[in-house]
Amino acid sequence: MEKFLKDQGLNGTSYRFISGDLKEMVHMITEAQSKPMNLTHDIAPRVLPFYHKSLTTLGKNCFTWLGAKPVVHVCEPSMVREILANYRKFQRSRRRNPLLKLLVSGLLDVEGDQWVKHRKIINPAFHMEKLKHMVDAFYVSCSDMIEKWEKLVNKEGSCEVDVCPYLEAFSSDVISRTAFGSSFEEGRKIFQLQKEQARRAVKVFSSVYIPGFRFLPTKNNKKMKEINREVNGLVRNIINKRVDAMKDGKASHDDLLGILLDSNNNEIKEHGNNNFGLTTDEVIEECKLFYFAGQETTSSMLVWTMILLGLHLEWQTRARDEVLHVLGDKKPDIDLLSQLKVMNIIFNEVLRLYPSIVSMTRQVYEETKLGNLTLPAGSLVQINTLMLHHDRDMWGDDVLEFKPKRFSEGILKATTNGQAAYLPFSGGPRICVGQNFAIVEAKLCLAMILQHFSFEVSPSYSHAPYTIPTLQAQFGAHLILQKL
Ligand code: HEM
Repeated sequence: MEKFLKDQGLNGTSYRFISGDLKEMVHMITEAQSKPMNLTHDIAPRVLPFYHKSLTTLGKNCFTWLGAKPVVHVCEPSMVREILANYRKFQRSRRRNPLLKLLVSGLLDVEGDQWVKHRKIINPAFHMEKLKHMVDAFYVSCSDMIEKWEKLVNKEGSCEVDVCPYLEAFSSDVISRTAFGSSFEEGRKIFQLQKEQARRAVKVFSSVYIPGFRFLPTKNNKKMKEINREVNGLVRNIINKRVDAMKDGKASHDDLLGILLDSNNNEIKEHGNNNFGLTTDEVIEECKLFYFAGQETTSSMLVWTMILLGLHLEWQTRARDEVLHVLGDKKPDIDLLSQLKVMNIIFNEVLRLYPSIVSMTRQVYEETKLGNLTLPAGSLVQINTLMLHHDRDMWGDDVLEFKPKRFSEGILKATTNGQAAYLPFSGGPRICVGQNFAIVEAKLCLAMILQHFSFEVSPSYSHAPYTIPTLQAQFGAHLILQKL
């Protein structure tokens, strides 16, 4: 494989038996995470140290090794487009470590016709029309957080807070309420268990996959299976209760579970065949996925937004002026939120510099053409979103500066390469299904924060972005909040 790729003019690292580049990768990540970095936005060397070094020394289109599989790194916008458009050829890695399936499955993990079926059933849950009804839940969760901050603020009206745990609690509360409506207390329990599962999965991520290893009764493996059983039991309970309530005509149809079950029933009715719908187990996986895909990503976006607005106070003022002009001290609704244009460009710029998901990997299962390359069967292709977003050739010399204004005429005009250079929510048919949900949620949250507080980064803040697996602040986000 190495020769095959090198013969096509690609530079790459030399294959090392079984582990490939994994040891060096883990070593570099451990080293990078041992200390904070300077307060700049040049974060790729800390967040993806091995890939950053490889792409800098070997060229933007090069290959490395993930265990025994070559990873071809793709930066060429036309190739990025081709990968994202062609979801049948470039699939999410199927034979991943089965232990990781315990963490996340559902829409994120199905391919081909199965994906088409799942996506069709899930799409309606995220239509703007449905989101309107969820804004109240966002509001209740955010009011809780603001109340807690108000209690922390001392007599002088200010205090230092690490906002990370609060924003995480906010976005998980939002998912609990919007996914399960009145059953949100059970939803909270599920969330805590999923978080524990994610922590355990990180251990699995950072080891080489050994086939059969999942059957070994190691402590971590056993615990992961136990958590999986418990989560499935809790979700199954909620679903069964809901299905019974639906039969009695008493169920809510406005939360994600209600919409998903309605959409599933419609699909089955339309075709007169259960095969067109999801099984209860599949519905369970989709509900679990809402937590995994929707919680950390959104809290990551909010944390980096607060840090960046705590550093660039002129943009904080502009965002607040807009909020006060559009909302005053009114309760936000979806129409008012859609008028917040300055906030849009701020979020665009935050997600450019600090994308919640820093890279996306796909696998080809047969020899596949990509641009002028031929990829051998079994190889992986990687789109390094963070590196694309920080590429001087695409964004210009001010690439590492926080300049929301670059988005003032839309995303297409912000870079010479258009959409393919800007992928915070991915692109093509498998673009993030929760994009609108996340943006409305984040807008409401930031608007309410700006209505109640001003904030700046505390001298005790240590700048340390890292991935677990979304982009988080390793040593927290310490800000000084001032009550308005
Ligand atoms: C700022 C917040 C968010 C960001 C940055 C984000 C980003 C992404 C990205 C980059 C992908 C593609 C991953 C890949 O192809 O490997 C994705 C997929 C997905 N996201 Fe999001 N996401 C966010 C919020 C949400 C929310 C709130 C939900 C649901 C409640 C959600 C549900 C999903 C699902 C189900 C997929 C898989 C779609 C498919 O394969 O068809 N996301 N997201």
